[in-house]
Amino acid sequence: MKFPYSETVLEHFRHPRNVGKIDDPDGKSMEGSPACGDMVAVYIKVDPDTKKIDDIKFESYGCASNIATGSIITELAKGKTLDEAKKITWKEASDALGGLPKIKAHCSVLAIEGLRSAIQNYEERHGLITKREPTTLETVRKRLRKVMNPIAGLDLVRTNLVKDIQMKDGTVRVVIDLPKNHQFAAAIKEEIDEKIEPLWDVKEVIVEFTD
Ligand code: FES
Repeated sequence: MKFPYSETVLEHFRHPRNVGKIDDPDGKSMEGSPACGDMVAVYIKVDPDTKKIDDIKFESYGCASNIATGSIITELAKGKTLDEAKKITWKEASDALGGLPKIKAHCSVLAIEGLRSAIQNYEERHGLITKREPTTLETVRKRLRKVMNPIAGLDLVRTNLVKDIQMKDGTVRVVIDLPKNHQFAAAIKEEIDEKIEPLWDVKEVIVEFTD
């Protein structure tokens, strides 16, 4: 039987580069694939003067293609400026891997989205976003799709844990359908804060749990 994967994909899958987490990253992301529900996290360290990516790591909760793409794009992005790294396309990643089966295109798209969101997170945290759209409930919901529900390994929205979202005068209130003493409550709250707080017009994030 012939493997659907190129030798390069298999090599990166077996020995992925830059796997792990960066403590105290300058930018980070957690992206979920609408196609399969798998997730990827990307962490970057950025030189404040040159805006070059000094270090980058990723964690994948996805398949072999996703792991291989995470590996290759972290290699491609390291040493590039944020603007250069933003332009890396999934086609480039897939070409660098010697091609991916068509059915696996979304896996490399997921890794690229992870990289772009980590860059966006850096830019938001450093006031570098020039096009400022007002935050809406939909913006908040979109961000909550990037917070993982550790119980299910899928995002909070998809697993119906988001009970309510309200927004008033820069205060965002999110109600999560879990008891506040649940073992994952603190981690979920922290991740929600991290995703919503960088939005330029958000002043406060309140996460409530049900009893
Ligand atoms: Fe989900 Fe590949 S099938 S990332």
